[in-house]
Amino acid sequence: ASTLGASAAESGRYFGAAVAGNRLSESGYANTLGTEFNSVVAENAMKWDATEPNPGQFTFSGGDQIVSWAQARGMKVRGHTLVWHAQQPGWVQGLTGNNLRNAMVNHITGVANHYEGKVFAWDVVNEAFEWDGSRRQSNLQQQLGNGWIEEAFRAADAADPNARLCYNDYGTDGINSKSTAIYNMVRDFKSRGVPIDCVGFQSHLSAGDNLSSYQSNLQRFADLGVAVEITELDVGGSGSAQAATFGTVTQACMAVARCTGITVWGVTDKYSWRNDDPLLFDDNYQKKQAYTSVLNALNSG
Ligand code: G3I
Repeated sequence: ASTLGASAAESGRYFGAAVAGNRLSESGYANTLGTEFNSVVAENAMKWDATEPNPGQFTFSGGDQIVSWAQARGMKVRGHTLVWHAQQPGWVQGLTGNNLRNAMVNHITGVANHYEGKVFAWDVVNEAFEWDGSRRQSNLQQQLGNGWIEEAFRAADAADPNARLCYNDYGTDGINSKSTAIYNMVRDFKSRGVPIDCVGFQSHLSAGDNLSSYQSNLQRFADLGVAVEITELDVGGSGSAQAATFGTVTQACMAVARCTGITVWGVTDKYSWRNDDPLLFDDNYQKKQAYTSVLNALNSG
């Protein structure tokens, strides 16, 4: 097929982009997103600071805008993210013990209930591990102890039993200490019946990164019985080196049956969170070499 979304759909996959609602009024942005992609994720609008600025007071307008835009065009929506150490509203940051636990569960319940039936997957927990495989010493970890990730997944499952529930992280672009720690957690969850359905590999990369174990890493997670998704792909660099790295990631997903889709972390270099032009469309919404590489990989799978 001739677009990213349609090409991914031929193998039952999605190809999505992270979206900022305030850009949807720009025609180049909206046209590119609507034409090329068949899935979206809110870059910021569904995070804790955006959705629950005050305790128990939920504001869904930003996320709802993105959901309605996507639904009107038949696009899927991923949910990002229910619990994260970053972008917590101020009122959460000082909570201790059971006050934090109750706030976490209440937040998961409120947001996942609201978006039930509208998002096909949730990043339930984001970035809870360090490079060496230890737990990140966030307020959640320090106040709630090792069990907090399991508690978060159980709360999400109770609120939306049909959404695919994912653990999501970066720096997991091969077999390394961090990805192995996450692997061990997922294996433990599966053996004890903790509801986890998928693992998200953010894949914030640079051209030329060593991806020699990228595919085998995806495969070992898939072999645990979870789906794997490329959730925040971007590749700093340019030209053929950038294109090659994008191609390697896309081919890896296509080669793993349980790799259900790819999301790039933005539509255009113009609005990327990075300043090294890491996306598939340039500032003027022109297709880059990286675009062609991804499209070809989707079509040869
Ligand atoms: O909306 C406010 C605006 O009102 C204010 O004037 C402006 C001034 O700084 O800030 C705006 O908010 C910014 C927001 O992006 C929207 O642009 C925040 O400061 C800024 O911190 C926020 O950055 C986001 C970042 O997560 C926060 O940690 C990026 O857009 C977003 O791309 C990035 O996404 C994360 C994923 O969620 C998780 N994985 C890593 C990834 C990249 O860091």
